[in-house]
Amino acid sequence: MTDARAFADVADAPGRVPWLGHLPRLARDLPGLLRGAAGKEERLSRLRMPFGSDIYLWASVESLDLLSHKDVSAVESAKIGEVIVGHTSMLGSDGADHRRRRTASSAPFTPRGLSMTGVSDVIREVVLERVEAMLQRGALRMLDETQALSLEILFRVMGVPRDELDEWVRRYNHLIRGALGPRWNIPGFPRHRALKARAWVDERLGRYVQAAREDPDSEGLVAELVRGRDEDGSGLDEIELFDNLRLLVLAGHETTASVMAWMVAYLAQSPELQERLLAEARANEGLPRTPKELRGYPLAEAVFRECLRLHPPAVLGTRTTTAPMTVEGVAIPEGVVLGIPLWLFSRDAEAFDDPDHFDPDRWIRETRKLSAVELSVFGGGPHFCLGYHMALVEAVQFIVALVRAMDDAGVRPEMRGLPGETYLPLARPRAKETLCRFVAR
Ligand code: HEM
Repeated sequence: MTDARAFADVADAPGRVPWLGHLPRLARDLPGLLRGAAGKEERLSRLRMPFGSDIYLWASVESLDLLSHKDVSAVESAKIGEVIVGHTSMLGSDGADHRRRRTASSAPFTPRGLSMTGVSDVIREVVLERVEAMLQRGALRMLDETQALSLEILFRVMGVPRDELDEWVRRYNHLIRGALGPRWNIPGFPRHRALKARAWVDERLGRYVQAAREDPDSEGLVAELVRGRDEDGSGLDEIELFDNLRLLVLAGHETTASVMAWMVAYLAQSPELQERLLAEARANEGLPRTPKELRGYPLAEAVFRECLRLHPPAVLGTRTTTAPMTVEGVAIPEGVVLGIPLWLFSRDAEAFDDPDHFDPDRWIRETRKLSAVELSVFGGGPHFCLGYHMALVEAVQFIVALVRAMDDAGVRPEMRGLPGETYLPLARPRAKETLCRFVAR
């Protein structure tokens, strides 16, 4: 056995600049950086971060196992969003705390829960209304539309009345902007506005929680979380309720919105794909409400999975070591942030033939159970995406409703090529490059 290499000898990944380290490269071309690191003989490299700890990037598919490793913690990874998700979200907790918070929150997100708790019906209502409005407008920035759609779904699922939706969106935007800016809580600065917005959101959530507690028959996401218990009968306290409700909006919003915008972008490149999707949509009635009903829409689901594979919103995950371990022959001490390159897994030539090529049918040809690599766009291990089924139902409903409505109106989507991408904090198409016109077919 050879001795482990020294941790201090791990070299920097290419693309570092003075002061800002690797941050500009991460923002501009995260995939290029990951590919470069994977092509090196030593696949562990250091990403210098100007704020917070450096990340030790493990540019190999083997790093996927870290997501289920017993000696890592997710607490640090959630810190970037702590203004939004606080300190007690499931995403930022480990072990027994994580299990309790997740189990108590999970009822509406199971395959059955989606329809039983009314989540699918809310999705359907919002999708139908918004798709109709999109076609009437004729020209729009698709990412703006899908973001508004997914945010409205989450707010409506939480029980926000229609006449308060605009105010929620406004406050929520303050919250998001404050999470990324400097940490100074000074009047006029984004962090200050974000904290004010959070207080407003929590005051409203407090009312919904109170109402759900007073009415044992109440329905919806808040009621489910208020009643949610883990196997030992423990539920969530007030702070945990708020933190996890805010997390659900954050985790379920931009991710799904960006994939739906990509789906339209690929549709706009291929009238043939639109025809095939339409034939599938017309062969069914209504919109699928459960993962079981999705079986009638294999192509729509395949387009979702393929867009997600080529454009995963979460490009790089992180975990912090809680005990020493060896990675690529290097002895890693406790307390080191390891980078897990989710983007690379989806381009792995062993898992996917011709991995850079858009080929939705690959998901239809493959009939076996999906592998951990194929599912890795949703993470892995105990923190595997809680909203997996919801995202599928939402995106498939959206594309099915859109192709039917376009057919009724005799139009097709037109976009100037595929949009470019930005990568921080999540990957998404550049909004202004998702300009879409509905033109006569
Ligand atoms: C295409 C859409 C989506 C993608 C690609 C996605 C991706 C992910 C990924 C990669 C993780 C793991 C993060 C980590 O391990 O650090 C995650 C976790 C999570 N996602 Fe999603 N997500 C999507 C949609 C949703 C939706 C719709 C919801 C719910 C409304 C949601 C709720 C969550 C929650 C609560 C977690 C944390 C789970 C835990 O810590 O146990 N996601 N998601």
